[in-house]
Amino acid sequence: MSNLNRRTFIKTTLGSAAAASMAGMAWKPYRGRGGSLELLRVASVGVGGMGWSDLNRVSDHAAVEIAALCDVDSNNLGRARDIFEDARGFSDWREMFGAMGNEIDAVTVSTPDHMHAPVTMTALMNNKHVYCQKPLTHTIHESRRMVEVAKRKPLLTTQMGTQNASRQHKRQAQQMLTDGIIGEVKAIHAWSDRPAGWWPQGKDRPSGNDPVPGYLKWDLWLGVAPTRPYVSETYAPFKWRGIRDFGCGALGDMACHIADTPIQAFRLYKPTSVLVEATDATADMFPSTERVIIEFAGVDASGGKPVTLSWTDGGRKPTPQELGVAEDVELLANCCAVIGSKATMLVDQEKGFLEMWSDGKRMDFKKPNLEGRNHWHQWVDAAFDGDQTQSNFIFAGRMCETLALGALASRFPNQKLKYDSKSMTFPDFPEANQWVKTDYREGWAVKGLSEQT
Ligand SMILES: NC(=O)c1ccc[n+]([C@@H]2O[C@H](COP(=O)([O-])OP(=O)(O)OC[C@H]3O[C@@H](n4cnc5c(N)ncnc54)[C@H](O)[C@@H]3O)[C@@H](O)[C@H]2O)c1
Repeated sequence: MSNLNRRTFIKTTLGSAAAASMAGMAWKPYRGRGGSLELLRVASVGVGGMGWSDLNRVSDHAAVEIAALCDVDSNNLGRARDIFEDARGFSDWREMFGAMGNEIDAVTVSTPDHMHAPVTMTALMNNKHVYCQKPLTHTIHESRRMVEVAKRKPLLTTQMGTQNASRQHKRQAQQMLTDGIIGEVKAIHAWSDRPAGWWPQGKDRPSGNDPVPGYLKWDLWLGVAPTRPYVSETYAPFKWRGIRDFGCGALGDMACHIADTPIQAFRLYKPTSVLVEATDATADMFPSTERVIIEFAGVDASGGKPVTLSWTDGGRKPTPQELGVAEDVELLANCCAVIGSKATMLVDQEKGFLEMWSDGKRMDFKKPNLEGRNHWHQWVDAAFDGDQTQSNFIFAGRMCETLALGALASRFPNQKLKYDSKSMTFPDFPEANQWVKTDYREGWAVKGLSEQT
């Protein structure tokens, strides 16, 4: 369909939808702007790195207009403004909301992890649809609040940026798991080669104090995080991932992409304990390699029995024997194995790999008739038609609470921490409670996160 036809299609569809709404039919009206229904006016926050990709993938939808761009790096902002000439540019997202709150319908958030929740929550509170990069949140508290607010605002369309979840093989895998193909789920293994030398972990706080480059607004980059001197080649861009104040480590970075399929299929949303096995975790950084064992309360798919997720990173993998696959199988670097009473499923995050094994042999199986989808356009379309997105915040916030739990537990390695998800506390280990919520820097209170609203 050409862009013009597509836009006409959406406009026509919206017209009938509005009529259906007025007639009292089950239609979720699009509420983002209350004016013309022709275009979704998007503001993009963080437009370098993955944000560049998000900006381009969202804006190539025919019903999207990029209305505002925000980046603390003037080079990245300038590159985006050269293409989207009509968009207004900002370096501070708070000013952007203040100046253009009534002229934007939707926001993409592709900043470092520590700023996801502050920008996203502000957007939700201002009734904007949000596409936010993974992981959606940085702490347990942020995760819980995100789910609560997303539930309270069902007319807003949300999507976490786990684009692989919309690929054909991952959709098929999720459907097969939901349909019970593996029998009762017994255990999940997921693993990643990250940080894989891409960014440092397992070290102390970087020393030094370099002049901030003229193109970078360092104080705005720090945002809600504690003040730190700028050290070149250390934090921005990209290398902040292994540092607790800014990133979520390899677990937060990759498990969203790798372990999401079984977590979503089985609704594993109630972790009851966590144990991180690691030797070089520091107060400042996540360990260079770890095994994270998370127990979930029983679900229907496990016959009510607890389910264990065993996550390894830094190149550690489970053995083929643990997974019930042939001994000579070369396991992919980033992959997930879901072990059930009847079979084991292997599904990777990006290569399109989906296999079933039983009794150490590959099984033939029929894949459900599901297509791959464009994750970014799915979000835009859903903002118009009210459909549920693949990685909506009600799911994403629940999953990210579990990942934030694993990240927190690496502060207390080699100790099993019981977790009471109802009260979001560690009843037998009160030292851990202080990390459920982190205080934002003075002057950076965020409505919806800094206080209960
Ligand atoms: N879905 C994926 O496959 C995928 C891949 C890579 C990164 N990511 C995610 O994307 C996010 C960004 O990662 P990255 O590798 O692009 O990081 P990066 O550091 O390379 O880029 C971040 C961008 O955001 C800008 N920025 C930083 N703070 C900002 C603020 N307060 N306001 C506005 N702009 C700000 C930076 O200047 C830069 O342009 C992370 O959350 C990461 O997990 C997702």
